[in-house]
Amino acid sequence: MSTTHQPLGIDIGGSGIKGAPVDLQRGEFAAERLRIETPQPSTPDAVADVVAEICDHFADQTGDSPIGVTFPAVVTSGVVRSAANVDKTWVGTDAQRLISARVGRQVVVVNDADAAGVGELHYGAARNCDGLVLVATLGTGIGSALLNCGALVPNTELGHLEIDGYDAESRAANSAREAEGLSWEQWAGRLQRYFGAVEDLFWPDLIVIGGGVSKKSERYLPHLHLRAPIVPAQLANAAGIIGAAWLAEQASR
Ligand code: BGC
Repeated sequence: MSTTHQPLGIDIGGSGIKGAPVDLQRGEFAAERLRIETPQPSTPDAVADVVAEICDHFADQTGDSPIGVTFPAVVTSGVVRSAANVDKTWVGTDAQRLISARVGRQVVVVNDADAAGVGELHYGAARNCDGLVLVATLGTGIGSALLNCGALVPNTELGHLEIDGYDAESRAANSAREAEGLSWEQWAGRLQRYFGAVEDLFWPDLIVIGGGVSKKSERYLPHLHLRAPIVPAQLANAAGIIGAAWLAEQASR
């Protein structure tokens, strides 16, 4: 990798695809983030075209540096294995190979919550915590990253625990709060049930709430009573892009 160029982080989401070059010294964006609407249907080829557009946009800052890409599904060795909230044609797609072939650069593709967890681990709320940290992103779905003494256990998918007969994310994700018109306090009740169950199974030392709603944590966190401290992500929505860029840089060494 060129020393003057920064790695690029790209976050593929259901409604938007966002990217920015990342300053890994500071753990922050090195330029203003670019957001492009996710194409519908969000097929692999259509999404790869948008990713290529974002790469072109930041070509001057990022050169031939590696690219870290987050995806909202299980990803093992760059291959997408599930599709809870994305186009089903992704299942079985080697996203890493597809995007790398399209942009001609080294690419690492990881689960979105795992990337956010890595971002928070190195630059945010999980820094200096050497126990077990659960980073949970509350958005359209619930994503989870489990970090044990700084090591990521990938693809934990704790948003899909079955609780009270429901797929947990269908009751406790931020999308459920919006769709059902729940008050913050009512939603906090759902979160209490969810995190209480997760805590009984995993006993984390710290829980970090990620996703856009982490910026409004004062509305719901005071209603939660858990064993572990529960805090908002410090990098908020930037955590995934920053964590993905960090992982891409590591993989290129
Ligand atoms: C997916 C996870 C993802 C989470 C957040 C869930 O529905 O199964 O892989 O991390 O949503 O996007």
